[in-house]
Amino acid sequence: MSEKVTEDNTVRIFDTTLRDGEQSPGASMNVEEKVVIARQLEKLGVDVIEGGFAASSEGDFESVERISKEVKRSRVVSLARAQDGDIKRALKAVEQARHPGIHIFIATSDIHMKHKLRMSRNEVLDAAVWAVSYAKKHIDYIEFSAEDASRSDRDFLAQVFSEVVRAGAKTLNVPDTTGYAIPSEFGSLVRYLVEHTEGGKRATWSAHCHNDLGLATANSLAAVANGARQVECTINGIGERAGNTSLEEVVMAIKTRKNLFGVDTNIVSEQIYPTCRLVSQITGISIPINKPIVGDNAFAHEAGIHQDGVLKQKLTYEIMTPESVGITGNRLVMGKHSGRHAFSERLRELGLNLNKEDMNRAFLRFKELADKKKEVYDEDIEAIVAEEILRLPGQPDRFELLYLNVNSSSNAIPSASVKLRVDGQERTDHATGDGVVDACYKAISKITGSRSKLVRYSVKAITGGADAQGEVSCLIEDGGIRVSGQGAHTDIITASALAYINALNKLEYRKHYRQLVEREGP
Ligand code: KIV
Ligand code: ZN
Repeated sequence: MSEKVTEDNTVRIFDTTLRDGEQSPGASMNVEEKVVIARQLEKLGVDVIEGGFAASSEGDFESVERISKEVKRSRVVSLARAQDGDIKRALKAVEQARHPGIHIFIATSDIHMKHKLRMSRNEVLDAAVWAVSYAKKHIDYIEFSAEDASRSDRDFLAQVFSEVVRAGAKTLNVPDTTGYAIPSEFGSLVRYLVEHTEGGKRATWSAHCHNDLGLATANSLAAVANGARQVECTINGIGERAGNTSLEEVVMAIKTRKNLFGVDTNIVSEQIYPTCRLVSQITGISIPINKPIVGDNAFAHEAGIHQDGVLKQKLTYEIMTPESVGITGNRLVMGKHSGRHAFSERLRELGLNLNKEDMNRAFLRFKELADKKKEVYDEDIEAIVAEEILRLPGQPDRFELLYLNVNSSSNAIPSASVKLRVDGQERTDHATGDGVVDACYKAISKITGSRSKLVRYSVKAITGGADAQGEVSCLIEDGGIRVSGQGAHTDIITASALAYINALNKLEYRKHYRQLVEREGP
């Protein structure tokens, strides 16, 4: 993939879900989760995966390093400031990648240079050239980003880009860091830079847009129309503040309006929906129902006139098919009589490749679910698999739910009794609360001794019908560490308990890791 995309009519897709996307409030992911997403991004056909910002934390370094070892086709890059220490860390982290790269950035707008960097234009220019020249001695593929480009002086930008191309940068990235630009303006900036940067025609131009004014996709497309051949984006558009350009929107706009753009991407569009669901499941950030391309309503026609039109001819109101983005509908796949073979076949069809141990665990969970629910859908299976494969590697969970009983009526205080296995020992406790979920969470906190704060809680039905599985996501915080937990069950309260316990198990892992680093160093 990274090899293929040198032709002028291919737009390279650079995914930064694991770096800029993770900067989304509450979206932190552990190393294992990032590796699972990176594998899926490769399957999606992403050309470049930004695995993290290696110098920013031990966790980020480890993620980039692990992704570099696992991913074979996509390029793997690490972000680095234009500083010696950052560049060394990034180079080390991508060392084992088959297609390694480093992404160096420094701010070029007067406002950033004056107030944040406290550097003059000349100092920024020197730092950028020094960083690219230094990195070039160790690695061939360098992307250079001029942070806050859309608020920078155009001629200064062209000067910086000219110098870094001379120093060896291959990709020149134009970020709209604050989501301030308007499409016509951003498109004209990209065109100006392509035309006024010495050696600029040799480089690949890239757009990196934020969505503060809801214009990230429009700005990225304007950049493509004006010469950019790389777009930086995230799955579901997650990212700082209002997020980044959403991969699924840009890719499907380019595909659906090929007549206008005349370019293509290497994305396997049928993998879009499974990827969006996976990222949502792992981060706990749900996909809004009206989200273009992958929201629940993206292909739902409610108005009579629309339904009538679509029944007569889909093209009347559908500009792309749900199948083209991997939405197969709530297809009934199996029930309680389905065997292991059929289950593993279905997993394979869904693109979920599990090892034997994960497969056995997932099959047992499927059987349990099929006993409770008459109809088991693809989404139910994905939820089971996500929970099973995202367990912490090589470690039994510290907490496990064994039993739950709740009481609620209009004239009694809601209460819950919970039994957990904690480090192999059974423990029971009881609590009352403002509602049954609150009571249940309090009982779990009593048993586990957790003082964590519940930051976010959301519930959603995965499939239709009264026996639908409920999917609960929660985000908890303890001692400055934030983790999300997910749980799916036909009973919402049980799903809530499972989500909370899942988050507590992750928290234990993170605390344990932090202690190890403090004691023994990274
Ligand atoms: O938004 C931004 O400017 C960035 C850069 C580091 C590329 O994320
Ligand atoms: Zn950004």
